Amino acid sequence: MGLIVRSSDIHAAGVYTTSPIKKDAHIVEYTGPRITRERADELYEGRAYTYLFGLDDGVNIIDGNGIAAFINHCCDPNCETDEINGRVWIMALRDIEAGEELSYDYNLYDGDDDPCICHCGAKNCRGTMYTEEEQEKLKKAAAEEQEKSKRAAAEKNVEVAATR
Ligand SMILES: C[S@@+](CC[C@H](N)C(=O)[O-])C[C@H]1O[C@@H](n2cnc3c(N)ncnc32)[C@H](O)[C@@H]1O
Ligand SMILES: [Zn+2]
Repeated sequence: MGLIVRSSDIHAAGVYTTSPIKKDAHIVEYTGPRITRERADELYEGRAYTYLFGLDDGVNIIDGNGIAAFINHCCDPNCETDEINGRVWIMALRDIEAGEELSYDYNLYDGDDDPCICHCGAKNCRGTMYTEEEQEKLKKAAAEEQEKSKRAAAEKNVEVAATR
């Protein structure tokens, strides 16, 4: 199996296969040192994109240092990830033809101000790399924040009126 990194229509560089890959194949491991969330925040502070993969234990994060770290997100992906004994593998969701770009669904969570807009171009693109649950959570938090600001503004108006 041959994998190359080259420019991608999805984002900057992506990973392409130079040979066909069979469904369910273990394609490549997501390698890199295991670091904490705090260290990850330090390392990637102010950087436009990251090479991080959160492990199922919710504590450790892989700071990607291999070819798998260049695989882009797609909402209609041809790969998925599987964590086996603390190691993460990129697996083929279907037969993949030579020349195709590899992709998996990042299913991002723990969102902040960044909307993580998706440019995958799939027909079913959900517009963001966050999970649907995370999107709902972020929408709810934004609505609550707006409600809070409205209440604060209304209270301020009452105070101003009272001092007139
Ligand atoms: C691990 S890197 C992937 C490799 C990256 N394309 C590069 O050239 O270094 C992850 C970053 O790529 C970008 N990315 C990956 N898939 C994307 C997509 N579908 N839409 C928009 N940006 C994407 C995001 O900025 C994300 O933080
Ligand atoms: Zn998408």
